[in-house]
Amino acid sequence: MLRWNPELYGRSLLRLADLTDEEMLNVIELSVALKARRRAGVRGDLLKRRQVALIFEKSSTRTRNSASVAIRDEGGSAEYLTKSDIHLGAKESVKDTARVLGRIFDGILFRGFAQKTVETLAEYSGVPVWNGLTDDFHPTQILADLMTIQENFGRLKGLKVAYVGDGRNNVANSLMLGCAKAGVNYVNCTPAELLPDPALVKEAGETARRNGATVEIFNDPAKGVAGANVLYTDVWVSMGEEAKKEKRLRLLRPYQVNAELVKATGNAGGELIFLHCLPAFHDHETAVTAESGALEVTDDVFEAPFSKVFDEAENRMHTIKALYVSAMADLSAI
Ligand code: CP
Ligand code: NVA
Repeated sequence: MLRWNPELYGRSLLRLADLTDEEMLNVIELSVALKARRRAGVRGDLLKRRQVALIFEKSSTRTRNSASVAIRDEGGSAEYLTKSDIHLGAKESVKDTARVLGRIFDGILFRGFAQKTVETLAEYSGVPVWNGLTDDFHPTQILADLMTIQENFGRLKGLKVAYVGDGRNNVANSLMLGCAKAGVNYVNCTPAELLPDPALVKEAGETARRNGATVEIFNDPAKGVAGANVLYTDVWVSMGEEAKKEKRLRLLRPYQVNAELVKATGNAGGELIFLHCLPAFHDHETAVTAESGALEVTDDVFEAPFSKVFDEAENRMHTIKALYVSAMADLSAI
């Protein structure tokens, strides 16, 4: 049975705070139902003739393909637009581009640098806009992460997620808020140089409190991960920050997720999963330099049975589909 929250019709998602806690959980619930629907072989018409523009300033494997396939699965279509395809930010302002695309498309998904760009698209396009990653946030990723946690534990509330690595990047920011909204205890294990914005920590802390959970920051990863049910990491150098690579590798080397850190959770072999938004530097093939080998996660952890990274990647598609359906489904198709 497919059910979604009518309050979400026509709504954008620029950061997770745009959803109430309940709305966020409704989207995850719908994602689970849509996953079952696809597994049952159903390709329906929920998004029949809906058209979305996918504007990508940065590269992507999961988000781009999830966003394309999610709409096609249910009868709609997507147009992939890179900076070299359209005039955005060069010959035409974001505001004008928004007003043009809003006349043509039913929705816009944006991946790029400035959070301001996705906000301007939402302000002027008149159609729902989804943030597919900016320098500051990655909200659609965290819906898939929470869905994956829910699939593995059958619950969210009361669990503990330990994020280890670059504590102030887009994924860490959104994960902190997503956990807080879901009543999941969140620990950020990061060096003093990479602390998240105090205003975001305050917002997440208040949100967590009202859901009976906590937000904590630890410099010592071995201490922070104690009791964790989810070990989560991300790349040490995000897209657009390549110039900071050498310094980051130096700072974050002690924050690698490896067998020792898994042991430090105290949950190895028990209630523990590993998540990574991907792409990941876990082996020599993807290493930045030949001698560096694995970076943020070692191969044995990445390939372990408790690593759920490919379920997590698949769930990107189901959660983006849930956002599309909630915001613009053809109700006559049900
Ligand atoms: N996790 C994620 O956003 O992956 P892509 O960069 O491949 O879209
Ligand atoms: N923090 C990473 C996430 C990639 C999905 C980046 O911005 O590159």
